[in-house]
Amino acid sequence: MSAMSVEEQLSAYVDYLRDMGIYDLYHRNDPKVFLPESLVGGLSGSSSPQVTEAQQGTQDAVLPKAHAPVVTPSAVNQGSAESFSPMAKPPSLDTLSPLPLQIIPAADRAAALDAVRAEIGDCKRCPLAYAGRHTIVFADGDPNARLMFVGEGPGADEDATGLPFVGKAGQLLNNMITAMGLTREEVYIANIVKCRPPGNRTPEFVEATTCSQFLVKQIDIVRPQVIVALGATAATYLLGVKQSLASLRGQWHTVRGAKVMVTYHPAFLLRDPRQKVEAWKDLKLVMAEMGLASPKRPS
Ligand code: URA
Repeated sequence: MSAMSVEEQLSAYVDYLRDMGIYDLYHRNDPKVFLPESLVGGLSGSSSPQVTEAQQGTQDAVLPKAHAPVVTPSAVNQGSAESFSPMAKPPSLDTLSPLPLQIIPAADRAAALDAVRAEIGDCKRCPLAYAGRHTIVFADGDPNARLMFVGEGPGADEDATGLPFVGKAGQLLNNMITAMGLTREEVYIANIVKCRPPGNRTPEFVEATTCSQFLVKQIDIVRPQVIVALGATAATYLLGVKQSLASLRGQWHTVRGAKVMVTYHPAFLLRDPRQKVEAWKDLKLVMAEMGLASPKRPS
């Protein structure tokens, strides 16, 4: 395997932190900052970012060393604090519009979803329209599903096919669904943004919050009993919170009348397979809630 460049290492490291839901590394006054003070100082370039033995206990809680891509202190110090802009706290999907007073009859849901797709049209509402997308990836699955999965945004395979979660992460998601005793056709799968962010970067705040009006409509039409938020971006924009994934998963939240379970994104699980056992715990809670039997751990 060829060695990663410093840029690739840094990018992978930032991805890793993002998947764990760790934001705003430089906001010392934010109570949700998880890094030790000395490390924050080091990252902002004022002192050495070397982590002492004592501090490693704190850091390991959010960043398992063995699987995190290695970034040298000098690589980190090449970036300024300003280059990592903090993300604003998004609104919860509950606050975007009132809950619908009427439930769309099961037989009419597919047509209602088609109408939302038609409303989106050849969307130019946010910068992702001009960032190289080929296809708008609306959703996949059963318009009457009891279980909905929400990911972050399309990658290259999804952009090429027009379907969510069809690449490597999608294969793992399929395995997770099968292990729950369901088929992909029985669930509904969507994303926070419907267009591929260039280079698979995290959707920007304006992109996610512009697109979420359509996700709200999809949720209100399908009315799933349970939504599984896959990864920190999905959790952030569904729930309107800015917290670590670790602090959100394993417990129930609600959005638009559905119960929400937050778990790791399949792409993250491919990078750090040790966390699969934790994701499976989350999915078992979903199965219990939905009365699904015979849990079989996914491979
Ligand atoms: N990752 C996502 O979050 N969504 C997809 O559709 C594919 C990969």
